[in-house]
Amino acid sequence: MAPAVRRKKRKDEIKVTIAPFRNLTDYKTCEDIQREVWHCQDIDIVPAPMLLVASRTGGIILGAYNSLGELVGFAFSLLGVAGGKPVQHSYMLAVRAAYRNFDVAFKLKAAQRKESLKRKISMINSSFDPMQPLNAYFTLGKLGAWADLYEENFCGETTSQLDRGLPTDRLLTHWNLADAEVARRLETGPPRRDYRKDLKQRQIINQLTEVAPGMMSCSPVKLNCTAPQFLFEVPYNLQEIKNRDLGIALEWQGKMRQVFRHYFKKDYMAVDFWVIEQDGRLRAFYILAKKK
Ligand SMILES: CC(C)(COP(=O)(O)OP(=O)(O)OC[C@H]1O[C@@H](n2cnc3c(N)ncnc32)[C@H](O)[C@@H]1OP(=O)(O)O)[C@@H](O)C(=O)NCCC(=O)NCCS
Repeated sequence: MAPAVRRKKRKDEIKVTIAPFRNLTDYKTCEDIQREVWHCQDIDIVPAPMLLVASRTGGIILGAYNSLGELVGFAFSLLGVAGGKPVQHSYMLAVRAAYRNFDVAFKLKAAQRKESLKRKISMINSSFDPMQPLNAYFTLGKLGAWADLYEENFCGETTSQLDRGLPTDRLLTHWNLADAEVARRLETGPPRRDYRKDLKQRQIINQLTEVAPGMMSCSPVKLNCTAPQFLFEVPYNLQEIKNRDLGIALEWQGKMRQVFRHYFKKDYMAVDFWVIEQDGRLRAFYILAKKK
């Protein structure tokens, strides 16, 4: 089922309240959530005192609380400067597994945006792992952020199980908080699309081949596309591929490096991520568009 369909059904099933951390216990619980969500060693945990200082020096830390007042997720951003202007740099976003796919992260980000705008900051920068379709869909599709920079091995080696021994490549994103399209997406969700038509109208620069059950490899990619928009298809189950076959995962990372680095140099940016159900299977696409 495509994410847009699932969202409508489940979003109101869990009630959460979004608010700044209430006390020191929340900061300590945040350490626990980091361990639980990223399955990382303590060297990669942002400790409570650092979170506290960052939140008192212009950063924003928000918690999602369930009906019992328990912390079930958080969003943490640092105050930074980009192009001479103040920005928030979103460093961590996490939701406990039992509370996922109920819009908890979406509500955290909406509150982070509201708080930033209140502080007269209209940009939140961030980064995500392009090998995680969920994060690509959440950031580009659901929030309406965009990316025009690809960094290889951005954070070096980490102990996070989500990185699974791969170089920590990241897409660096900008979330333009005052943009009308961003406001619209927060209000009504990603646009409803006629995906069949959308696919017909746009070039796909690669093809996927199933080399073993559930394991997709990538054809050579076209690097001569000049259309205003085109699609780069990736396997919907990339995270599973990462867990099952590091070799194929590395091949995919190589393709991402090639596509994003090449087209970003040619003034394209990654502007959306679609998950489409077609003939009983889920297909996932990065949408690249030429800068205006
Ligand atoms: C990323 C994370 C914070 C999202 O939290 P969440 O509360 O589940 O997020 P939301 O419910 O607001 O949105 C998740 C969306 O992803 C969709 N989704 C779920 N699995 C997906 C997948 N494998 N591929 C693409 N989209 C997927 C959901 O359907 C939902 O979209 P919808 O509302 O349009 O249906 C959470 O999964 C998490 O803590 N992950 C580990 C930490 C991490 O990666 N943080 C970095 C975030 S960029």
